[in-house]
Amino acid sequence: MPTLHEIWSGILSEGHKLEQDLLNLRELVDKDFERLMANPELVKPLFTLMRKIRPIFVAPHIAAVSLYPDVLEVLANEQSFSVSPIYLSKMEATTGDFVLGLDNTPQYQTEIGLMRAVVTHGDVSAIKAITCHEAESRVQAAAAAGGSIDAVAQLTRPIANAVVAEYFGAPGPDPTTNMRWMRSIFREIFLNLGNDPNMAKDASECAVGLNASLDAIIAERKRQLAAGEILPDDFLSRLVKLQATTEPSFEDSVIRRIVGGTIVGTVDTNSKAAAQALDQLLVRPLSLEDARQAAVADDDALFARYVFEALRFNPQNPFLIRKCTRDTTIAAGTSRETTIKAGALVLVGTQSAMFDPDVFPEPDAFRADRPQNLYIHFGHGIHTCFGRYFAAEIIPGCLKPLVKMPGLRRSTGTGLKYDGAFPDSYDLSFDV
Ligand code: HEM
Repeated sequence: MPTLHEIWSGILSEGHKLEQDLLNLRELVDKDFERLMANPELVKPLFTLMRKIRPIFVAPHIAAVSLYPDVLEVLANEQSFSVSPIYLSKMEATTGDFVLGLDNTPQYQTEIGLMRAVVTHGDVSAIKAITCHEAESRVQAAAAAGGSIDAVAQLTRPIANAVVAEYFGAPGPDPTTNMRWMRSIFREIFLNLGNDPNMAKDASECAVGLNASLDAIIAERKRQLAAGEILPDDFLSRLVKLQATTEPSFEDSVIRRIVGGTIVGTVDTNSKAAAQALDQLLVRPLSLEDARQAAVADDDALFARYVFEALRFNPQNPFLIRKCTRDTTIAAGTSRETTIKAGALVLVGTQSAMFDPDVFPEPDAFRADRPQNLYIHFGHGIHTCFGRYFAAEIIPGCLKPLVKMPGLRRSTGTGLKYDGAFPDSYDLSFDV
């Protein structure tokens, strides 16, 4: 199998080899998807070239779309571009089936409906409060200890886990175990496209622990409800209360699947997005200083603009994936109109779309004044992120007190350290 370097050199020197390159990429997707997800620089040259010479690219069993309108079109058409063949069986083997593995079926509508029914408008500020409190105290502790911090292990990851414990009501036995469960199961469902049996085994063991933990909490909340006791006001407990008043009702396993699926999508997603956005700010000292001034001025909206623009350069997902279930023509009526064949794995270039110059002028420039509604960090279409309003607070919120600190810099000169696709540690220092 060719190395990534060979693939990309080939792409850049000979555009006509694009088809072979895409086929090689297909092999990499199957064999080492996690490596691709860990480093968008690996796929950026392919998508950059596609945007210029062939924006919708098809080869046997694989296709890729690179421009903003085509990315939205694919994500909006879940009847042709499905998530189920990719994610559902792995969900069933771990947390149980979950909305992100379901097409627009009655089960999807019922379960996303239950999830929406227990979320209230005030939850965004509750989550912001949890995040701010955690971030402030963690950065203060780092300042008291001399001004060094592991911005992942001591900040972004435990803060996202605190949201899972406090807001979602699923703390697990302890934070370390919970974070390990979340990562292992996420890895199996969303990254193990090559079906590595070790990943599957680890996730299956973690899922046994997670499911037992959730079942125990659900049973306790039901006991409290029956005894007339006051339940905590969290996502899980609200589902238990909803179960008691819904006719016909739903099984405890529905609550477990919903909570399990949701929290697996909470910890490392937020942690990764925050860590990578921070890293992109740190390699742009002028933008970092602008962001710092917004943070010091407590201008949260402006600070968030810096963070989400930074995230564009290294997003949580460089692309999303779909399976094409029937021959489908996209960009119909344009010069790039192309039919994607049933059976193709489709790489939906969300990061590439955010570099489409028709939508993001001067795409390589860092500009915090871009219209916020254009970013597609949270996907598009029916599966648009359920937690996007929460994440919009968590990601900047967990960074703000740290970015406020003067002289923020990498301690060792090295960047983020990864565990597969997941940022795992990031040693930073600041002046105290
Ligand atoms: C509180 C935190 C979060 C929660 C509870 C959450 C939950 C979810 C859920 C339930 C879905 C599936 C929605 C559906 O199928 O209808 C989803 C999708 C998605 N989420 Fe999140 N998420 C969170 C954080 C994030 C973050 C931080 C990012 C990226 C910055 C992100 C990016 C996405 C994307 C791109 C999708 C769509 C995936 C696809 O279409 O294949 N999420 N999220």
